[in-house]
Amino acid sequence: MGRSPPHMHTIDAKIAEKHLLKHPFYEAWTAGTLPREALLEYVGQYYAFESNLPRYLTALHSRCEDATVRAALLANAWDEEHGANNHPELWLRFGEALGLERAKITGARLNDATRALVETYRQAAEKAPIEAGLAALYAYESQLPAVSAAKIEGLRKHYGVESRDGVAFFEVHRTLDVHHAAEERRLLERSLSGAPAADGDAAVEWACRALGAWWDFLSALYPVAGSANLMSRTASLN
Ligand SMILES: [Fe+2]
Repeated sequence: MGRSPPHMHTIDAKIAEKHLLKHPFYEAWTAGTLPREALLEYVGQYYAFESNLPRYLTALHSRCEDATVRAALLANAWDEEHGANNHPELWLRFGEALGLERAKITGARLNDATRALVETYRQAAEKAPIEAGLAALYAYESQLPAVSAAKIEGLRKHYGVESRDGVAFFEVHRTLDVHHAAEERRLLERSLSGAPAADGDAAVEWACRALGAWWDFLSALYPVAGSANLMSRTASLN
């Protein structure tokens, strides 16, 4: 493997800086202090992203000139969406293990931060330079193995989720996204090494946008000060 382009190092540094496990939402989840209603609210909000992820992958795939990049994006989209155990389905089973009905998850009223997250990824997939779309995906999937492992432990320890269906989504991502993230990193390095500096700058910019949107997504679910907004949003799930 050759040397990574400098923009790749910047993207990795930005991800480390704003790693989701540093957010108070996940700190509370792993400590068992996250209120159950915040967890339930999170299930419906997150479904909006998870159910759209296959479309982000295929949108980026359809715009990509490089067949090697396309093949990897196609494989990733296939992993997300094919068969009875597709990932949105696994997410719904997780929600059911917490006692939520499917209709409450799929029909959750989205808050502003969730809408912004979904829109950020839609634009990254449909409009941004290919490198930028890859960077936004990498910013997310490279974090999932560690985030998933922490979630499983927290769910078992503090929230009574023990069943196979209850943790299947996280078990899958604990391992599969090691591969997805490595692929995206390889594709990004490949794309960035021959790209003009402006495309590298765009990749960094969109990685940062994605990281910011994820951070805000969690902040909306677990406000550091006050919980009035959370409670009113939670009411929409009941
Ligand atoms: Fe997935």
